Amino acid sequence: MNEYRLILKPEAAGGVQQDSALQQALRQGATERELVERSSGGLEDLSRLYYFLDRWRGANLIHYELWEGSRKLATIEPLIVGFTFAPAPLPGTPVLSRFAYLRRIGDATVLESPLSPVRIRLEPEAVGAALALSTPELVEMLLATGFIEDAAASEPGDRLVWEFHDLLFHRRSRHCGDSGQVGGTYRFRDRLEPWPALRPPYSGKRIALARPDMEELSRQDPPLTRVLEGRRSVREAGRPPLTLGQLSEFLYRTAAIRETARGQQEELVRRVFPSGGGIHELEFYLSVDQCQGLARGFYHYHSGEHALYRLKASRKQNEALRERAAGGWRGLFPLPQVLITLDARFPRIAWKYEGMGYRTVLLDAGAALQTMYLVATAMDLAPCAIGNGDPDLFAAAAGVDAFSETSVAEFALSARGLEAGPTAAPPSAP
Ligand SMILES: Cc1cc2nc3c(=O)[nH]c(=O)nc-3n(C[C@H](O)[C@H](O)[C@H](O)COP(=O)(O)O)c2cc1C
Repeated sequence: MNEYRLILKPEAAGGVQQDSALQQALRQGATERELVERSSGGLEDLSRLYYFLDRWRGANLIHYELWEGSRKLATIEPLIVGFTFAPAPLPGTPVLSRFAYLRRIGDATVLESPLSPVRIRLEPEAVGAALALSTPELVEMLLATGFIEDAAASEPGDRLVWEFHDLLFHRRSRHCGDSGQVGGTYRFRDRLEPWPALRPPYSGKRIALARPDMEELSRQDPPLTRVLEGRRSVREAGRPPLTLGQLSEFLYRTAAIRETARGQQEELVRRVFPSGGGIHELEFYLSVDQCQGLARGFYHYHSGEHALYRLKASRKQNEALRERAAGGWRGLFPLPQVLITLDARFPRIAWKYEGMGYRTVLLDAGAALQTMYLVATAMDLAPCAIGNGDPDLFAAAAGVDAFSETSVAEFALSARGLEAGPTAAPPSAP
């Protein structure tokens, strides 16, 4: 087993002044053997040493440096509290784990893996050796920290199905081992302005939409249980097609902003569906093919104004969006009369949430999709969620920079045909 120099992170200040000699030694770095040797060797001194080491390890304040003679090779930074080494036997054919990846953080080159409880900061001259598994000291360290696996071993099926990016996203966007990097940390507060609640309107032609009479609707709507039980994905499109009146009502009931409020850090929004932190980063865009009273084209729904803005997207781009999302239906069902693309103003949500911004967007999109399903069912329209869009196609059609806004989900909406069979009773039923 290699010997490592233990380093105390600077955050470990305060509360332990009574042991400043130990603290000082650890700030410069010392092996565990050196620490034991510099204590008096008495039981009380040793228990004191291990009491503090345990405490700092438990608070994730100890790093481990691997040295080869006078050359530092790497530093191990635990990502979970209470990390300890677990030596493992070298496999027959050692290879880097398929979940390992190398990246730059600040000036450092680091090796990480969603399966490892640590991050390894590699010294520049050790990068090649680490990847080639050519230095025994590094191999031993990578083995003990979960970066090496046996190329000859077959992966169990329940692990095999996890793709690299799925596992990384999952582990890094939840509190796995409480690495402290996930949550509403507002880490850009001093560097960037928060994005406003409402997206600035586009400059295209504006079409104000009619607002439904909500009192009347709440008298006429089918009961909740009938709507829930009657909800189905309906891919058939009925004739005559959807009307602008229906589309206006649908958009108002699902996406229109009910209220904005000044929060402590940023503007907050209320809609009928919930959103992490009340941020409401989702925008609604419409690829209209057939809608009575509305020209075919690509539109942004301004959810604060309850209005549509016609965008400059070409007919080809508009068609490609519907084709890409629902193209799998070809030959079985017609493409939807209207395709709604949900897009996230990602900087608005990432300004607050660290490590979980995109996770929150997807959860929010799920809440929006179910709301659209239920409203469409209550209105006796044909709804179907779609998870197949192309964000690059969308960004080109909307003329947005994909870092600012990116599409995350789609929803097909058409008039309901008789052939689709009954779901909920029509709104006028008692
Ligand atoms: C997130 C999500 C993505 C979906 N993506 C598609 C899709 O790409 N194409 C499609 O035809 N249906 C899609 N659906 C609809 C499902 O196939 C459907 O919900 C499922 O078959 C159950 O049928 P039901 O909705 O009638 O209960 C999606 C549903 C959800 C919730």
